[in-house]
Amino acid sequence: MFAKKNKSMVGLDVGANSIKLVKLDRTKTGLAVGAIGIRELPPEAIVSDEVKDREAVIFNIQSLIDQIDPKIKDVNVSISGYGVITDKFMIDKKTGSEAEQAILFEAEQRSPFDVEDVTMGHHVIRIDEETKKQEILLVAARNEFLNSFVELILDTGLHPKIVDVDSIATLNAYEYNYEIDPSRTTVLVNLGYDVTNVVYLHDGHYHSTRDISSGTRDIYNAIQKEFRLNAELAGKTMKGEMKDSVDQDMLKATVVSATDELVSGLELAFSYFKSQAKVEKIDWMVLSGGGALVPYLPEFLQSKVNIPLEILNPLRNIDYDPEMFQYLELEKIAPLLSVPVGLAMRLDG
Ligand SMILES: Nc1ncnc2c1ncn2[C@@H]1O[C@H](COP(=O)(O)OP(=O)(O)OP(=O)(O)O)[C@@H](O)[C@H]1O
Ligand SMILES: [Mg+2]
Repeated sequence: MFAKKNKSMVGLDVGANSIKLVKLDRTKTGLAVGAIGIRELPPEAIVSDEVKDREAVIFNIQSLIDQIDPKIKDVNVSISGYGVITDKFMIDKKTGSEAEQAILFEAEQRSPFDVEDVTMGHHVIRIDEETKKQEILLVAARNEFLNSFVELILDTGLHPKIVDVDSIATLNAYEYNYEIDPSRTTVLVNLGYDVTNVVYLHDGHYHSTRDISSGTRDIYNAIQKEFRLNAELAGKTMKGEMKDSVDQDMLKATVVSATDELVSGLELAFSYFKSQAKVEKIDWMVLSGGGALVPYLPEFLQSKVNIPLEILNPLRNIDYDPEMFQYLELEKIAPLLSVPVGLAMRLDG
């Protein structure tokens, strides 16, 4: 009589540097980690959200699934960058098809959305009981971009349940694990290889998001060149695994010298936000993604943009058996998993 409730969900984050998988189980007390897997991609397989080597990406996703659990079929996935557009607006408090109608109507009035060319989804940011209005976050993906990504996932034999966006997955991971302080304007910075997702929280809720097309790839290239390392060793250096064989002062100087584009991208985005939201300063920065793990990078960013910084731990309120994941050093690499955790948290459509 009752449909069997799906108790676990897998988040699959296909990034330019690595594919990350997190399975979350629903328990009596909340969420628990069921499985984790990370598999690095060849450096040019995905560049700036564009899949250059489809075969390599498919092969690596399948290998990761085989390694973790070949029975996995349903996955939540995400896209980011150029293919995604977001906007927000207020509508009257409604539900179901009435709300859908109102949202579609609003979307049609908005120039960045050509409703023929995009697939849309929405989230309710907040409901104002006094005015009986609700604020809607509209997320639209360009069809061409979305379809080719969905096809790729289907070609691996998996079934994409929800296609989310990296920035919202990061936000969901943050909201589940931390109390949002309404008095503190906060920016979430998910620093990846080619894309950095930025999410602003203001007055205790979501304000806006922006993707910056810059990440840690410039640092990787600089390290490879400066130390004349092959791809594998340069990758290890980025993970802080070459402490004994790489001069640390020189590494620090190399990291710092390769962040110009990233820093100016962040500064530009922050000043745009401040003028839009009419705030004088951003009080708090929460860093996640692989960039949070690159040696010397968080401290340097903090000093550059001059905002107090915290590293996001997406497993802060999620149970896991430390022994089961000992080989991964979860406490250390957790920030890398913000997107797949945020994806796996969603059960709904
Ligand atoms: N333990 C680790 N495992 C994997 N990557 C790591 C690790 N520690 C640091 N990194 C670094 O994280 C960076 C990639 O970050 P991230 O995994 O968030 O990017 P991505 O999701 O693959 O890319 P994008 O989101 O831009 O498509 C790389 O520069 C990598 O060297
Ligand atoms: Mg990423």
